[in-house]
Amino acid sequence: MTSFQLIALHESLYKTKPSLNIFTPGRVNLIGEHIDYNGGLVMPFAITKGTYVTASARSDKTINCFSKNFESLGVISFNIDDYQKANNWADFVKGAVFELGKLGISLPYGLDLTFLGTIPTSSGLSSSASLEVSIFNIFKDIYNLDLTDEKIALLSQAIEHDYIGVNCGIMDQFIISCAKDDSVMLLNCANLEHSYSNFELGDYVILIMNSCKKRDLAASKYNERLAECMKALEIVKKYYDVKDLCSISVVDLIKIKDKFDDEVIYKRALHCVSEIARVKDCYNALNDNDLVTVGKLLNQSHESLKENYEVSCKELDLLVDTARSINSCLGARMTGAGFGGCAIAIINKDDVDSAISKINE
Ligand code: GLA
Repeated sequence: MTSFQLIALHESLYKTKPSLNIFTPGRVNLIGEHIDYNGGLVMPFAITKGTYVTASARSDKTINCFSKNFESLGVISFNIDDYQKANNWADFVKGAVFELGKLGISLPYGLDLTFLGTIPTSSGLSSSASLEVSIFNIFKDIYNLDLTDEKIALLSQAIEHDYIGVNCGIMDQFIISCAKDDSVMLLNCANLEHSYSNFELGDYVILIMNSCKKRDLAASKYNERLAECMKALEIVKKYYDVKDLCSISVVDLIKIKDKFDDEVIYKRALHCVSEIARVKDCYNALNDNDLVTVGKLLNQSHESLKENYEVSCKELDLLVDTARSINSCLGARMTGAGFGGCAIAIINKDDVDSAISKINE
């Protein structure tokens, strides 16, 4: 479906022309996995798959939402002042109204909204964050709200925490709201300081491979990992004066290894502190155009996510192993929360077609 067709769909649904038509990207994380909620550094970038939305203002207080991706649910309607959760996709729109309400912003009139997401559902490329940011972008433009891109990222994360019930970090919403073309972001999740690096890979490309594995337990397992990291932080704090797990080095952690009664908690911490070191090395390697080192770091990140953080699965491992068997592959790893979803690989442009057929097989 094209943007033109989405406009036509909006007109046929609501018998009015949309006054706004926007696109919001999805994201891939190059490296720095499961450390955003531990005050770590991450290196995500935006992709051309994302969320298209058309919008028109109404004279009453109804918000009508239609998504081409959930066509069978039809138009979902609610009143601006009554946004009860209904456990369907439109909860993200209600969550946005709720978050603005918490800031004392009440919306003056309703809207007709039509959505089209081009990110495969449950692929780990942040379709939810893309949807959240797109809603705030629409609200900002239509209601003339004073919201910066950073504020939109934080409000979008708040929908997940307060309304949906996933205690996610800030990475997805931040890159999606603040991305720049052809750039990878280095984001410090402890203080939101960020910079951008040119993301030119010369003869190489990043291949994104979808395992199509359903991520049924992803949300509960995610919250479980978060809780394990908090336990690790409690132990670390007894020996170091730090606020976040990612504030200590691998050497610091090894020094207190015997203070951890539970080996699982130690392994979670080891992933976090080793991953932040890999992000720093990756950032330097990318700036030196040293893709061979970037690839090696991606491989090491995957091993750590698989062995220490235990968020990979056999489908993702198979994708990663298959990609690595391609001669020009410099490195591959799972990306995003894991338990299914996508993996990425750096391969030579000339090998893209053969790699795709091999991986599809
Ligand atoms: C999900 C979360 C992010 C981040 C990643 C793992 O995408 O939304 O905040 O924690 O998992 O790196």
